[in-house]
Amino acid sequence: MNLEQQLRTQWTEHVQDWIQQDQSLRTGMLDTWMLAALGDVAGRRVLDIGCGEGRFGRVLAGLGAQVTGVDLTEPLIEQARGLASGGETYLVGNAEDLAGMCDASFDLAVSYIVLVDVLDYRRSIQEAFRVLRPGGRFAVCNVHPMRMALPNGWIKQGDRKLFYAIDDYSNEGPREFEWWGVSFINMHRTLSSYVSAFVDGGFVIDGIQEPTPSDAQLAANPGLADEFRVPNFIVYALRKPLQ
Ligand SMILES: C[S@@+](CC[C@H](N)C(=O)[O-])C[C@H]1O[C@@H](n2cnc3c(N)ncnc32)[C@H](O)[C@@H]1O
Repeated sequence: MNLEQQLRTQWTEHVQDWIQQDQSLRTGMLDTWMLAALGDVAGRRVLDIGCGEGRFGRVLAGLGAQVTGVDLTEPLIEQARGLASGGETYLVGNAEDLAGMCDASFDLAVSYIVLVDVLDYRRSIQEAFRVLRPGGRFAVCNVHPMRMALPNGWIKQGDRKLFYAIDDYSNEGPREFEWWGVSFINMHRTLSSYVSAFVDGGFVIDGIQEPTPSDAQLAANPGLADEFRVPNFIVYALRKPLQ
């Protein structure tokens, strides 16, 4: 199987693994940062690109957003439809080509840990720009490029994590790691490549955040202490200019 085929199909067999995966990093930390990047969502038309089984779409719908979710993995979309709670619409589709979605038809767009899965990330960013109305915001959460360069880079002494190794940072391309007992692939690109892609795509960058837990989030989940040691995720708050 070539790289493109693997990226396009690797989620199909792992729908239940993903749903049952520990979600505390997302629910207990990242959601807060993504919601801050989106601003008020009530009454807004939101496109969740790479929505998976719709977990964040349901959060947004609960806050009064009109949510459309799109994902390449059909069984995840079936799950999302079954779990929909607030009139969300879920469609099978490709982030690299949002065919069927009209220009300027959404107020907000979301990409929640998806760009590492997408081969033509520049095209995906351009597509998000196209479907957003002028002034619309795009919240992107991705695995931090410092972490993606070398997956599973913790250097340990016994169980103690000493530090996180970074290597091959400038060498962009696929990174293979084991997840749920099989080989998974994510794409590594440098921070400057992502920032250039957003700017070249027409977006204004309102902020770049490297999420850490609040005191309350840390108290609720002490395992999040590692998030202070090495950046794990990155959130880009982007905006399509008015003209
Ligand atoms: C890490 S999961 C994140 C799912 C969801 N955003 C969430 O936060 O639960 C990555 C998702 O990206 C989807 N995906 C991968 N490549 C895609 C593409 N080219 N177009 C749309 N979705 C894609 C996968 O099917 C999977 O649902």
